[in-house]
Amino acid sequence: MARRKKVYEGKAKILYEGPEPGTLVQYFKDDATAFNAEKRDVIEGKGVLNNRLSEFFMAGLGGIGVPTHFIRRINMREQLIRAVEIIPLEVVVRNVAAGSLSKRLGLEEGTSLPRPIVEFYFKDDALGDPLVTEEHIIAFGWAGQQDLDDMVALGLRVNDFMSGLMLGVGIKLVDFKIEIGRIWDGDYMRLIVADEISPDSCRLWDIESGRKLDKDVFRRDLGDLADAYTEVARRLGVMPSNVGHVTKPTLIN
Ligand code: TMP
Repeated sequence: MARRKKVYEGKAKILYEGPEPGTLVQYFKDDATAFNAEKRDVIEGKGVLNNRLSEFFMAGLGGIGVPTHFIRRINMREQLIRAVEIIPLEVVVRNVAAGSLSKRLGLEEGTSLPRPIVEFYFKDDALGDPLVTEEHIIAFGWAGQQDLDDMVALGLRVNDFMSGLMLGVGIKLVDFKIEIGRIWDGDYMRLIVADEISPDSCRLWDIESGRKLDKDVFRRDLGDLADAYTEVARRLGVMPSNVGHVTKPTLIN
C-alpha cells in the first residue's frame, strides 16, 4: 500500500493525511505509556480495541447530536476523522474521586463526588500537563469564555452519554479525559470532540467486583491490559470476545 504522509505522531496514535482536504487518517498503535511516558510497553491488540471502542463511543455521541471528529472506520487500526485545530487543553470530567484528584485533595479513591467536576489541564508534556484554571486559560488565550462554556457543556454531555452506556453493562464511569478541536464552516467556528475516547482515557470500574477495566491496569501493574479492554468491548457488544489478540496466529488442531 502506498504510504501516506505522516502529519503527527503521538504516544498512542499516528495521524496521516486523509484522502480529502479537511480529513485525516488516525492510526491506533499498540504502544502504552503512563506517567508522561516514563513507563512504556507494547500491548498487543490495544490499538485494534481502542480503534473499535473509540468508533463506538464517537458514533454513539454523533447519534445524540454531540459533534465529533469521527467520520468512519477504515480498517482494524485506522479511522477517517475530520481535521481539527486541537485546543491545547485536556478536559477531564470526574464522577468519583480517583487518581490525581484523590492525591491532590486527600480523597479516598471511590468517594462519590457531589456532582460531576470538570477540570482543565494544559497539554504540555515538558510541564507534565498541569492543572489550570479558567483564569489561566483566558489570560493566556488558549480558549475564550464562549469556548470554555462550550467545552464544559460538551464534557458534561459526553459524561451523561458514557455514564449511561457503561451503567447498562455493569461498569461505573469514574472519570475520563477528552480533547476538543475547532472546525470552521466558512466563517463559522464550532467545537467538536476529537482525539479518542477509549479505556486509555477513562477510568472504568466493574460495579460488582470493583475490577479496573482501564489504563490503570497498566499504570498500576494490575494484570493484562488487553484482557481488560476486551472485556469492555465484549460487554458493549463491540467485537467478538477473541479479538483482543488478533495479531497472534491461532493453531487449529
Ligand atoms: P488523573 O486522575 O490522572 O488526572 O486522570 C483523570 C482522567 O484522565 C483518567 O480517566 C485518565 C485520563 N487521563 C488521560 O487520558 N491522559 C492523561 O495523560 C492523564 C494524566 C489522564
